[in-house]
Amino acid sequence: MPATDPVNSASEMAPPNVMVIFGGTGDLTRRKLFPALHHLWKEKLGPERFAVVGVGREALTEAAYRDMLDAAVREYYGEGFDETVWGEMLRSVYYIPGAFADPELYARLDRLLQRITGESQIAPNYFFYLATPPNFFAEIAAQLGRAGLLNESGDHWRRVVVEKPFGRDLRSALELNRQLHQVLRERQIYRIDHYLGKETVQNILAFRFANSTIEPIWNRRYIDHVQITVAESLGVERRGGYYDQAGALRDMIPNHLLALLAVVAMEPPTSFGAEAIRDEQTKVLRAIQPIGHDEVLAATVRGQYGAGTLPGGVRVPAYRSEAKVAPDSKTETYAAMRLMIDTWRWAGVPFYLRTGKRLPGRFTEIVIQYQHAPNFMFRDSLLKRENVPANSLVLRIQPDEGIGLNFNAKVPGPTAHLGTVDMDFRYDEHFSAAPTTGYETLLYDCMTGDATLFKRADNIEAAWALMDPVLDVWSALPARDFPNYLAGSWGPEAAEQLLARDGRSWRPCGFCHKASP
Ligand code: BG6
Repeated sequence: MPATDPVNSASEMAPPNVMVIFGGTGDLTRRKLFPALHHLWKEKLGPERFAVVGVGREALTEAAYRDMLDAAVREYYGEGFDETVWGEMLRSVYYIPGAFADPELYARLDRLLQRITGESQIAPNYFFYLATPPNFFAEIAAQLGRAGLLNESGDHWRRVVVEKPFGRDLRSALELNRQLHQVLRERQIYRIDHYLGKETVQNILAFRFANSTIEPIWNRRYIDHVQITVAESLGVERRGGYYDQAGALRDMIPNHLLALLAVVAMEPPTSFGAEAIRDEQTKVLRAIQPIGHDEVLAATVRGQYGAGTLPGGVRVPAYRSEAKVAPDSKTETYAAMRLMIDTWRWAGVPFYLRTGKRLPGRFTEIVIQYQHAPNFMFRDSLLKRENVPANSLVLRIQPDEGIGLNFNAKVPGPTAHLGTVDMDFRYDEHFSAAPTTGYETLLYDCMTGDATLFKRADNIEAAWALMDPVLDVWSALPARDFPNYLAGSWGPEAAEQLLARDGRSWRPCGFCHKASP
């Protein structure tokens, strides 16, 4: 098997540029962005001439900022940390403290950028990464626009990367898009969803569209239903303030889970270009049957964890006891739903989505559950027809990235007994790839101007349009049974019933390669 590094498989160094991070002292910057930048440089994909400017509300000196990043990258980078590469990168890091609403901050930033690009002879290509709380997105963009920092010309570009959450419902997403469009063209806006940066998510496109055996059976004639699970064992950590306002649905479904659904359910694009792919993804999101207000309670499930024990015996507190969470909080930490897609390919095939905090493990998996074989002739089998599982294909996004197929085989011996076995492809066994944060690809794409893996305005709006009725009903009828699942369990009982009503059940996560005859 050839060893190929996923980051390295993109061949060219990115063009010279300066990255400006608003929220330069925040968690995302320390845990993900700088480790990802370090990885890019190690793989020689970062531009030769480059600088990063952190902008934050904390009054730090440049030296203190570099020390903070140094400690963070050493902690979060993991294996393969490279002293030389990191040492060189740190020398190109700058910091500006200030309030995001203060126009003077942008005048200082402009002067610093001119100084950096002048001294280092970097083309004035800037990308501004908004890693701030969402209430600052529009303000920062407007200020950048006023300061002239978003003006492009033939020889340089300006881009803005917007982190999630992008709005909290359709109305606010439309408003944010409107505000951004006042100072930016759509092609300058890079709305990030780090799930799209995950190798295995991109691999779904390769799996579907670079193989001739998969597509012909990727439809309602062969597939019974699809399950998408994003389970986390983490609680809300230090993000109680944000999370208690957002909840599991807003935090995960319109972005990450619907991004996964879109790559599974989209039609083949006419090219691998950004617009062709994003057109198909938006089309499929728009084809999802709207959940009517009167259908919400039957088609969705919400949950909140109580105190419990995680696998390994760690006792953890209830959500309502977490820092910055209201003691009588009605916010959901678990959400599940059943969606139907009105297309020729998917009519009648339910897509079940679930996500939650404090579940027994960290698993992101997509299960393509095939239909039963049309005729069962193995009458001597110990298994009865109804107990012979239909084939399932499991796309494991994390951990153990890979793809597994469960199928039935004959157990050796004189009688025709059947057992379930699996074929398993594991990324780490086939490719000598270093683990990535998902941000490497996205940062590189932003520097090279490839928007394929970023959300377009219409895609975000389609996702929120779908979520609005659910949010309306959930807020009008607050849950009365919270907390309704124990930390360390697989979520509320109602989530089991959501599938049981259709005669189905959730497939245990991490199960594929453990299937046994
Ligand atoms: C973030 C959510 O977007 O994704 C978090 O805000 C969640 O609540 C995280 O923990 C999950 O990402 P990953 O890459 O760890 O699966």
